[in-house]
Amino acid sequence: MSRSPKGSGALPSAIVREVDSPAAMVELGRLLGMRLRAGDVVLLSGELGAGKTTLMRGLGEGLGVRGPVTSPTFVIARRHPSLVGGPDLIHADAYRLGSAGEFEDLDLADEQAVVCVEWGRDRAEQLSARRLEIDIETVGEGRTVRIAGIDRTVPL
Ligand SMILES: Nc1ncnc2c1ncn2[C@@H]1O[C@H](COP(=O)(O)OP(=O)(O)OP(=O)(O)O)[C@@H](O)[C@H]1O
Ligand SMILES: [Mg+2]
Repeated sequence: MSRSPKGSGALPSAIVREVDSPAAMVELGRLLGMRLRAGDVVLLSGELGAGKTTLMRGLGEGLGVRGPVTSPTFVIARRHPSLVGGPDLIHADAYRLGSAGEFEDLDLADEQAVVCVEWGRDRAEQLSARRLEIDIETVGEGRTVRIAGIDRTVPL
């Protein structure tokens, strides 16, 4: 697969991981979280119960933010302050939002934080061109996780 020119906002080639337990999902999230920086945006896609929040739990651990990272469904977005002098984590769930316009009204863009959005596809792209897109697919008892985006996250 060819790589996109830097700064175009297009995503480079993806990596794919088979993840067969919730613990392995948390661990994958932790590895990702260790590689994220302020201003990064992560969009998570996958059906109800795919494991988006489970991955986010690890991502919060990897970033070193105050937990627990749980589903923000009823508050839509929650800020987790850094415990290590790094970027805060803003964790949002856009499931109940109808459109990119409604999402934009939340005003979540924050260059000092890492912003992660469950159900973010087609709603949260305008947050940043520097983003990671994660797709989780249920396969039997396990999950297939496809990660595309920011180059430095790819060599997990
Ligand atoms: N890789 C995995 N393999 C097997 N089970 C998993 C895996 N990842 C998560 N799970 C399990 O799937 C269930 C749903 O996980 P989770 O709440 O993270 O999904 P979600 O995508 O955030 O759901 P929602 O769409 O409701 O926000 C949990 O019981 C979790 O332990
Ligand atoms: Mg969730």
